[in-house]
Amino acid sequence: MGSRTEICLLVIAIQFLVATGQTNPQDFAALEALKNVWTNIPPNWNGSDPCGSSWIGIQCTNSRVTSLTLPSMGLIGQLTGDIAQLSELETLDLSYNNGLTGPLTPSIGSLTKLTYLILLGCGFSGPIPDTIGSLQQLRFLYLNSNRFTGNIPPSIGNLSNLYWLDLANNSLSGTIPVSSGTTHGLNLLVNTKHFHFGNNQLSGPIPPSLFSSSMTLIHVLFENNLLNGSIPSTLALVQTLEVVRLDRNSFTGSVPLQFSNLTNVNVLYLSNNQLTGPFPNLSRMNYLFYVDLSNNSFDASIFPSWLSNSQSLTTIVMENTNLSGPVPAVLFSLPQLQTLTLSNNQLNGTLDVGSSYTNQLELVDLQNNLISNFPEPAGITVDFILVGNPVCKGTGGTKTYCGAKLSNPYPSYSTPPNNCIPATCSSNQVSSPNCRCEYPYTGTLHFRAPSFSDIGNSTIYTSIQSSLMSSFQSNQLPVDSVSLSNPTTDTDHYFMITLEVFPSGQDHFNQTGISGIAHVLSNQTFDLPSTYGPLFFIGDPYSYFAEGSSGTNKSSNSGVIIGAAAGGSVLLVLVLLAGFYAFRLKRRAEKADKVNNPFAAWDLNTTSGGVPLLKGARCFSYDELKNYTNNFAEANSIGSGGYGKVYRGTLPDGQLLAIKRAQQGSMQGGMEFKTEIELLSRVHHKNVVGLVGFCFDHKEQMLVYEYIANGSLRESLSEYYMTQQVTEKSDVYSFGVVLLELVTARQPIEKGKYIVREVRERMKNDKVLYGLDEILDPAILAPTPKGLEKFVDLAMSCVEEKGDQRPAMGEVVKEIENVLQIAGLNPNADSASTSATLEVDDSKGYIHPYNDDSLFVYSGAFPLSSS
Ligand SMILES: *[C@@H]1O[C@H](CO)[C@@H](O)[C@H](O)[C@H]1NC(C)=O
Ligand SMILES: *[C@@H]1O[C@H](CO)[C@@H](O)[C@H](O)[C@H]1NC(C)=O
Ligand SMILES: *[C@@H]1O[C@H](CO)[C@@H](O)[C@H](O)[C@H]1NC(C)=O
Ligand SMILES: *[C@@H]1O[C@H](CO)[C@@H](O)[C@H](O)[C@H]1NC(C)=O
Ligand SMILES: *[C@@H]1O[C@H](CO)[C@@H](O)[C@H](O)[C@H]1NC(C)=O
Ligand SMILES: *[C@@H]1O[C@H](CO)[C@@H](O)[C@H](O)[C@H]1NC(C)=O
Ligand SMILES: *[C@@H]1O[C@H](CO)[C@@H](O)[C@H](O)[C@H]1NC(C)=O
Ligand SMILES: *[C@@H]1O[C@H](CO)[C@@H](O)[C@H](O)[C@H]1NC(C)=O
Ligand SMILES: *[C@@H]1O[C@H](CO)[C@@H](O)[C@H](O)[C@H]1NC(C)=O
Ligand SMILES: *[C@@H]1O[C@H](CO)[C@@H](O)[C@H](O)[C@H]1NC(C)=O
Ligand SMILES: *[C@@H]1O[C@H](CO)[C@@H](O)[C@H](O)[C@H]1NC(C)=O
Repeated sequence: MGSRTEICLLVIAIQFLVATGQTNPQDFAALEALKNVWTNIPPNWNGSDPCGSSWIGIQCTNSRVTSLTLPSMGLIGQLTGDIAQLSELETLDLSYNNGLTGPLTPSIGSLTKLTYLILLGCGFSGPIPDTIGSLQQLRFLYLNSNRFTGNIPPSIGNLSNLYWLDLANNSLSGTIPVSSGTTHGLNLLVNTKHFHFGNNQLSGPIPPSLFSSSMTLIHVLFENNLLNGSIPSTLALVQTLEVVRLDRNSFTGSVPLQFSNLTNVNVLYLSNNQLTGPFPNLSRMNYLFYVDLSNNSFDASIFPSWLSNSQSLTTIVMENTNLSGPVPAVLFSLPQLQTLTLSNNQLNGTLDVGSSYTNQLELVDLQNNLISNFPEPAGITVDFILVGNPVCKGTGGTKTYCGAKLSNPYPSYSTPPNNCIPATCSSNQVSSPNCRCEYPYTGTLHFRAPSFSDIGNSTIYTSIQSSLMSSFQSNQLPVDSVSLSNPTTDTDHYFMITLEVFPSGQDHFNQTGISGIAHVLSNQTFDLPSTYGPLFFIGDPYSYFAEGSSGTNKSSNSGVIIGAAAGGSVLLVLVLLAGFYAFRLKRRAEKADKVNNPFAAWDLNTTSGGVPLLKGARCFSYDELKNYTNNFAEANSIGSGGYGKVYRGTLPDGQLLAIKRAQQGSMQGGMEFKTEIELLSRVHHKNVVGLVGFCFDHKEQMLVYEYIANGSLRESLSEYYMTQQVTEKSDVYSFGVVLLELVTARQPIEKGKYIVREVRERMKNDKVLYGLDEILDPAILAPTPKGLEKFVDLAMSCVEEKGDQRPAMGEVVKEIENVLQIAGLNPNADSASTSATLEVDDSKGYIHPYNDDSLFVYSGAFPLSSS
């Protein structure tokens, strides 16, 4: 057995021999595997008992993982086949992680208990696997707003319990599958209420056999595809239908006579097709609120009388539909009418609004018709648009109603403050409806077919707000308030509003909060009246998980000052650290380099020290890496330096790698290499290029990182100024560990002992220097510098268990300056020379992270191994 194999075995052994507490070992192994392929996993995903230690996003029933909900976590990576091991999983919600890319693994079909599969707003691509048809329990399938391609798998028809099927906004093509003989098809989905297929490239005719009277669909959405042929009359057999969108396709022929039989339809879109034949007679649709028949080639007709009798209509859109004759005055007295759009027709005569027009009416658009006369009623508040009619020729042209289109057709709306004066907040904070500066979770609500068009009516917003709030409250989520703003509509006539959800208790959400809130939104666990129609929410990434303060009333000014100070302090910290290190170097006695073979300790036969503490790093063979880089081809070389070269590699599943290959002569001591691997494998931070694995084989030393196309420390330092991430308490913790390493000259974990615990234990004594003399670096102790105690205190405050007990980075910087002063070192005066001593070359710090001779975040911070 070669040493490499032994190392691999050991890594595996570590992962499996650890007790898994209350969690089924298979489930633990699956989560560990996912944890290794995902970046930005929740902070408490450590230890070996996901169920017992309540990993964020995990729910268990009797030691088995039944729910994995991590929406809006900023996850990056792929959904690998490992998911299949979670064989009791009922809910999988990974929505709004647009960094989750690659194919949807066919192994998903093994999750036969799955009831909710919610992957909307991710970056998945490739075909939807056929195996999805095996998920017999599935009720909610949300795959919308991804980049799926290929056909709709006929096997979806096998999902007899399916309630909601949402495939909208992908790049699906081909025809809509229906069953024939032994194959499945969507016509079998008799329990499904929602067919959401809009915004794809589906083509061909809708097969008439898709619909039957045994179906119970309420929403059928096919808008914006490439469908053609005639609209099947069988659609009228689905008596339950409430919303039908067939617009933006290439349908031809006439609207089936049977259509009028769809008496429950509220919203009907047939616009932007090539429909011909008689103008449809929808007189029996007694609950029709919103109808859009625009841009078709119907036979010329006078204004249909049934329209004037449809008492429920809020919105009539019949642009470019070959209508002629007068506009009946009775239309304007329809009690609910909000919008009437009849532009680009041949409507003529006098526009008579009558005397009993409805006060709901907002807009009448009659552009480009043949209206010759308009006796404008006095005091009417409706917007009339008559440009392009004879009435606007000559002197009439100066009338308001002859102006061009409304410049801003959208009324502005923004949830008002709740009886308080809005706070002025620092850059990323927002004043909540309760006037506190907070970091809201944001996103956009998209309503695909609302039954109203007057989006200026504030009742719409108050009703959404109260429905969301009551759902957040009943799910015990830490939400203080919600705010809606910026209502708009797009070319698909989707009505969109920006949603901001504000935290209660703190000024930001933690991962638990976001996962719960985003899940309520992705799964639509809230009730809105059916007049809002089908909808979906797309969440923005949340970047304030680790925002420091818990103060909720900070004013803007102090926020800005703190922000600037924190940003500026990054460089200062580096300089100070360099200064302190130089100081330590000077004092450090020359010691012989222990040239022991560290990898001996990695042998399975040895139980002492040196066991590699690998977390998620995989060990690769030389041959594997040779293969992935095409024999280390020059074409794959993406950088080089004194240490050797960096190559780009590709895993068989397509994942890109950056492989740092040390050249002969620049190899580190085996010990250093081991340390580097151990450290890197424990670092999971968005500013650090993640370690995927390593190779210690064929006398080679290679580190395998995630491939990041373009990134530099300079950018990272700027991804700091912008977001003030340096105030993150997690960074403070790591920094504290670094400080402890400096004073003790120990590795964070040495001989199985964790530096933080070691120091903390000793500090319980009330001896001189806390009795730390046994573990402090002898080089520092002789003679003991002034301020050392303060320095240790500072380090320990940084590694407090609870984030809110740790100081902010700004305070840390201050204190280091203080300590250096006490020690008789002017932190600023000789920073240049100390940097020079350390050979900290600026330009080196700003190159691509893989090109750095050392680890880019740790350059200077973990220099111990080289001295
Ligand atoms: C495990 O996670 C908790 C909660 O985030 C954290 O306090 C603790 O330090 C972590 N432990 C290790 C060993 O990473
Ligand atoms: C349909 O479901 C059954 C039961 O889960 C399964 O055995 C079968 O393979 C599925 N068929 C397809 C086409 O997915
Ligand atoms: C459609 O999906 C893309 C991502 O694939 C997203 O950026 C876009 O906002 C989505 N559009 C709608 C209307 O959902
Ligand atoms: C429908 O479109 C397909 C291509 O997508 C084409 O082959 C077919 O001829 C079209 N049918 C009609 C009736 O236009
Ligand atoms: C309309 O629906 C009724 C059932 O509600 C049915 O009896 C009738 O045949 C349908 N008419 C047409 C033309 O489809
Ligand atoms: C529309 O249909 C209704 C009944 O379905 C019928 O009574 C009426 O005459 C029709 N109107 C026209 C203009 O065809
Ligand atoms: C009708 O077509 C025109 C031209 O393509 C387009 O600008 C307009 O938005 C369409 N109307 C509707 C209601 O879709
Ligand atoms: C309106 O147009 C119709 C034909 O579409 C025509 O018969 C009628 O005379 C026109 N009326 C006026 C007032 O121009
Ligand atoms: C706003 O909408 C509500 C509910 O739809 C309605 O009762 C109310 O009259 C509307 N208000 C205005 C000013 O249109
Ligand atoms: C997350 O926040 C909630 C309330 O906002 C709190 O109860 C919970 O303890 C927090 N969880 C963690 C892991 O910090
Ligand atoms: C999803 O939402 C539905 C209501 O639409 C609710 O009944 C169900 O409990 C929710 N499921 C989960 C897993 O939250």
